[in-house]
Amino acid sequence: MIDATGTRRADVAVRDGVIIEVAERLDESTQGLELDASGCVVAPGLVDLHTHLREPGREEAETVESGSRAAALGGYTAVVAMPNTEPAIDSAAVVRQVLELGTKAMVDVRVAGAITVGRAGTQLAPLGEMADLGVHLFTDDGAGVQDARLMRRALEYAGGLGVVLAQHCEDESLAAGGHMHEGEWSSRLGIPGIPAEAEELMVARDVALSRLTGAPVHFLHLSTAVSVDIVREAKAAGLSVTAEAAPHHFTLTHDSVSAYDTRFKVNPPLRTAVDVAAVKQGLADGTIDAIATDHAPHSQEAKEAPFDQAPPGMLGLETALALALTELELPVEQVLALLSWQPARIAGLQGQHGGPVAPGHAANLCVFDPEAQWTVDGNRMASRSRNTPFDGMALRGRVRHTVCRGEAVVIDGVAQR
Ligand code: DOR
Repeated sequence: MIDATGTRRADVAVRDGVIIEVAERLDESTQGLELDASGCVVAPGLVDLHTHLREPGREEAETVESGSRAAALGGYTAVVAMPNTEPAIDSAAVVRQVLELGTKAMVDVRVAGAITVGRAGTQLAPLGEMADLGVHLFTDDGAGVQDARLMRRALEYAGGLGVVLAQHCEDESLAAGGHMHEGEWSSRLGIPGIPAEAEELMVARDVALSRLTGAPVHFLHLSTAVSVDIVREAKAAGLSVTAEAAPHHFTLTHDSVSAYDTRFKVNPPLRTAVDVAAVKQGLADGTIDAIATDHAPHSQEAKEAPFDQAPPGMLGLETALALALTELELPVEQVLALLSWQPARIAGLQGQHGGPVAPGHAANLCVFDPEAQWTVDGNRMASRSRNTPFDGMALRGRVRHTVCRGEAVVIDGVAQR
């Protein structure tokens, strides 16, 4: 058993959604369902800060139901649904709609609200009424807030409400027209590029705005070496900043685009080997607080378009844990901190998710075999979409069971509903 308090050998008993006992050896005569965790790690359920569930509006690509099933299979017990839906999650009414859909889901579905009305970047959304419904993170993800003055006002407002703004860092004037990382491969392939600086400029700007306002900023999907350096310096200066990185940004590089395969189109784009190494270093040294999937389902039809017309995004929920265990040279304790208790804190879910595994705490647990070998098969995923770039890849580490609010939603790798 591994949680933020340490590692030990123990059995765990759960009743009515709550952990009731944790001990070296529990009484085997106890009635009820028994889950075999031999050879496995038992940990607090994983928490994803960055999931596109596509409801309302894009149900052909994903629904709250299908996306939450994918999450449960990936070991997650909570996900934060991004607001770039149609309509955008920019009001109490749409927040209520998604939370209502979430009540039937296999994991705890939370919502991120938009910072601006319609994510259009011009007018502040009613953050207060959304915060009243428990929304803790706000972002225009899919786009960054371009106007520095508006972002300053949003930070002042959010700081007063005790909520956190999360930024998709991309300067649109620099990124415009680009479809992959600007560099050697964009030149060779003749695909217009997005320079690393399009991200770095906004990371630097928002560090400055966090300093100016005193409000916290969470940086979404950092992808460049300079971005990681800027956040490292901001933390060293004592600013209230946190950051996440997506699995594809510590595993894949821009040369993957060489066959014009749109499964490798994502925003921010896949970068260079130097950037991948820097993201890994940021995860190792605490600069980056969380691994977040940016699970972005898109229909086969949409992804079959030519590279410059296909939407960016790739699936992530069912492969994140295994990619982290396989590709990061980090102890499993640190991988779990990045996937569970640190994101739980950023999402404001501490106490409900992210452990500890102790009596009286919510029974949100993930049980996985850290040594199990498996091969990713895009056709066998629970997501409604198939756009995984990891299809056919051999990975280590597989979820055996997921327990959400005391319910065994995944048993022996099979979703129970
Ligand atoms: O690749 C991406 N896909 N990046 C984003 O910022 C948005 C996301 C989506 O919604 O498909």
